[in-house]
Order: sequence, then C-alpha cells, then structure tokens
Amino acid sequence: MIMSNTAENKNEKKIRLKVYRENRGQDSGSHYDTFEVPYKKWTTVLDALLYVKSYMDPSVAIRYSCRMASCGSCGMKINGIPKLACYTKISELETSTIECEPLPNFPIIRDLVTDFSRFFDHHKSMHPYIEAKESSVDDTRKGTFSFYQSPEDVDKYLQFSYCIKCGLCYSACPTVGTDVNFPGPQALAQQYRYFADTRDESAKRLDIVDDRHGIWRCHFAGSCSKVCPKGVDPALGIQLLKSYMLGISKNDKVPAKKIEVESIDNRYNSSAKTE
Ligand code: SF4
Ligand code: FES
Repeated sequence: MIMSNTAENKNEKKIRLKVYRENRGQDSGSHYDTFEVPYKKWTTVLDALLYVKSYMDPSVAIRYSCRMASCGSCGMKINGIPKLACYTKISELETSTIECEPLPNFPIIRDLVTDFSRFFDHHKSMHPYIEAKESSVDDTRKGTFSFYQSPEDVDKYLQFSYCIKCGLCYSACPTVGTDVNFPGPQALAQQYRYFADTRDESAKRLDIVDDRHGIWRCHFAGSCSKVCPKGVDPALGIQLLKSYMLGISKNDKVPAKKIEVESIDNRYNSSAKTE
C-alpha cells in the first residue's frame, strides 16, 4: 500500500520513498513501506524521511543530528549505495522511487537505525589519538608543548583526519561482510593517520594491525574509498600502511620538534593586564 498525504497541493512533484521496516525487539520479520512525499529541487532524502515521520508515520526509525554531513549519523543504503541521507538530494538521484535500507555490515536495531558498537570498538582498538611521551597536560596546565609540523608533514595525514566515522566505508567493504573481526577500512585508515603523524611516537601501531584478521585481509576492493562522503581514501591509507610493513616504504618519520609554550594561565593573565 502506498501512503500519501491527501492535503498536499496536487501540482507538487512527488517521490516514492520505499522504506525498509524491521524491529529487532519484535520477532515480526521485515517488510517495506512506501510513501509518496512532495519534494523540491533542494529536498534531501533525510528531509523526505522527516516529512514521513511528521505527517505520515511517526514510527519510522531514523538517526540523524547535524543535517550537514558532519556528524556521520544518517548513513543508510539509498538505491543500493551507502550514502548520507542529509547529503543526498532527491533531484540528483534522477529516479521516481527511492529505496532506503539500513547500512549493510551493521546489525539492525530498528528500520534504518543500525548498531555501531562493533564499528566503534574497532576504531578504539587502533588507539586513535596521538601517543607521545610528553604530550600530557597536568592540572596546572604547565609543561604544555606546541609541536612544529611543516605543511608537508600535515599533508601526509590531513585527508584521513576528515573522517566523520559515518561507517559508509565499513558497510561497503566485502571483507567486513565475511569477517567481523576485520577492523575495516575506517579503523585501518585511522591507524595510518596516526602512524603518519610526526607528533606520534607509538612503536606499536603496525603490530596492532598485523593480525590474522588484520590488515592482510584487505583485498583492495576499493569500494570504501568510492562511498566516502568526505573525500577520505581509506584504501590508500591501508596500502600505505602495508607498504611500510612489507619494507617497500622506509619509515623515515622525523619526530615533530617540541616547542615549550607559556602555560595557558600565564597567557591569559598577561593578556588581561594589557586590556
Ligand atoms: S573514511 Fe569516509 S566513509 Fe569511512 S567512516 Fe570515515 S568519513 Fe565515513
Ligand atoms: S545528519 Fe549529520 S551527517 Fe547527516
């Protein structure tokens, strides 16, 4: 059955939204519901789903927050391809029916909402932070350092730091689909991000991914890089890491020079005096 809002203007353009429905908490199986939703040139798939929730069926479960491709919450499969719903305009899909399904490779919670626990566990297992002996900041905020990095140093990891952890690459990865212990493209690309950062002094980064279920399971399908909405190339990060592990690339990272700065409190005090 197609559900539509009869109070709408008949001249409006409408799109058919076919939405996957399933509730993990109820053993009632899955089905699709179809809604007819008015849209304009700038209407996104997320806007259309929110229209459905407001005027047609409030029980449709979706997850979103920023509505500007920054938080990574609204990932779903749209016409078969993992995309951010808030970053996908209906007019650009050039189709009369849009199919919205939950992201593959993630357990379903309800409808289009999936469970990211395993994905975030893999991310955390990579130690996704700078590990440096003298980088901790004590209570008095003394002993704070600045690290000098040249533009070339920053270029090595910058694109990987744009990751918003939306999970689209993880859902597109065929290896993740067959091995849940494989960390996936997002986590491995983050490992490269910190490995390449001249502020990081960890000697364990390559060991973390050198595991039976680790980096060697990547067969370079490349689908992760194709679906990334932020221009990150996880497949590249993985191949770069592999090349260091195989000795093809030499790790000639020169640790960033530390420059001691005045404590933040001192800087605040001196600026207050000059005002
Ligand atoms: S690498 Fe791209 S697709 Fe993968 S989680 Fe990060 S932003 Fe999303
Ligand atoms: S709602 Fe934040 S990325 Fe789409």
